[in-house]
Amino acid sequence: MAAAVERLSRGLTRDRELAGARYMDEERLLGAYLLFYWPVSYLQARGTISELPRRARSVLDLGSGPGPMAFAALDAGASEVIAADRSARALATARALGADAGEPLGTREWNPSRGRPLSELAEGRRFDLVTMGHVVNELFPGPEGDVRRAALLEEAAALLAPGGSLLVVEPALRDTSRALLRVRDLLVARGFAVRAPCLFRGACPALVRETDWCHAERSIEPPQLVAQIGKAAGLRKEAVKMSYLVLAPKGEGWAEPPPGRVFRIVSEPLPSKGRLRYMGCGPEGRLGLSLQEKHVSDGNRRFESLLRGDVVEVAGAEPRGDGLALGEGSTVRVLAPAGRPVPPHERSPHGT
Ligand SMILES: C[S@@+](CC[C@H](N)C(=O)[O-])C[C@H]1O[C@@H](n2cnc3c(N)ncnc32)[C@H](O)[C@@H]1O
Repeated sequence: MAAAVERLSRGLTRDRELAGARYMDEERLLGAYLLFYWPVSYLQARGTISELPRRARSVLDLGSGPGPMAFAALDAGASEVIAADRSARALATARALGADAGEPLGTREWNPSRGRPLSELAEGRRFDLVTMGHVVNELFPGPEGDVRRAALLEEAAALLAPGGSLLVVEPALRDTSRALLRVRDLLVARGFAVRAPCLFRGACPALVRETDWCHAERSIEPPQLVAQIGKAAGLRKEAVKMSYLVLAPKGEGWAEPPPGRVFRIVSEPLPSKGRLRYMGCGPEGRLGLSLQEKHVSDGNRRFESLLRGDVVEVAGAEPRGDGLALGEGSTVRVLAPAGRPVPPHERSPHGT
């Protein structure tokens, strides 16, 4: 099993030989997917669905494979879930898992490369949530990839009910992450609002330098079987990492950010001599945030334990180099820990 997981890992994340291939139809690889990647995708879906502004009842899971995103949606409170994939075998497995768990799951065969409109699949229905887990990067290889992916996401977003969300999860690899960010930019330019993770409404600042990309991380305690298989396959899993994007239906605006200087932490802690730094990305863009050890105080101590994905309000920081330097008098407040929704900005009666 570890050898099959290792083959999947190599084929999907390193040489990419399996991206877009029919690995779900091979018994050993489907088995490896179920035992290792399924729980990982499930945890990624739980850790991002938890950020949605409201509970999703009706869900469409596109490129579902054996359904980890679909089951995460069910466990997060959905009552009606349809899983769609081109692999009949993966869909049969999803149905069997649903029957075992007493959670009925509808399935549909779906292959976007065949050019049939997505609306046919939806049969006139609208969904609170459409998920696309690790499938977008497997579609439309070639120079037109970004444009075709953006068109597919636009089509998927058209199936959303008002207030709904399109959740795209992709591997946390530089190339797949940057490809998702380019698609994000195309859709933002077409008027889509991002619900998460972005607080910045312009073109993604992580695309400026070739070496940057954007990913999320949620610490997990992997199920024992996943930990064992991961160890045998040489893959560590004490955290799940992914790039993700949550879009609102077209025409719904961006949520008003909380007041103050607000940033999402988009790096791990970056300690250097006597100083701790993170990259933050917020309404004013992507900036370095730093605090010298000698300036740690009660008001800013929280800075020392921030996690990638936390949304924070920083007050009393000064511009320094390419970012902001916090001082002894600065304050740091976590508005939303990683994986939780950013609280909506309540406007005061005076409009501030
Ligand atoms: C890496 S798996 C992801 C499965 C699941 N969504 C998850 O998050 O773990 C990618 C899925 O995309 C599907 N897929 C790849 N190319 C496809 C295509 N052209 N049409 C439909 N599904 C496709 C595969 O069958 C596979 O189930």
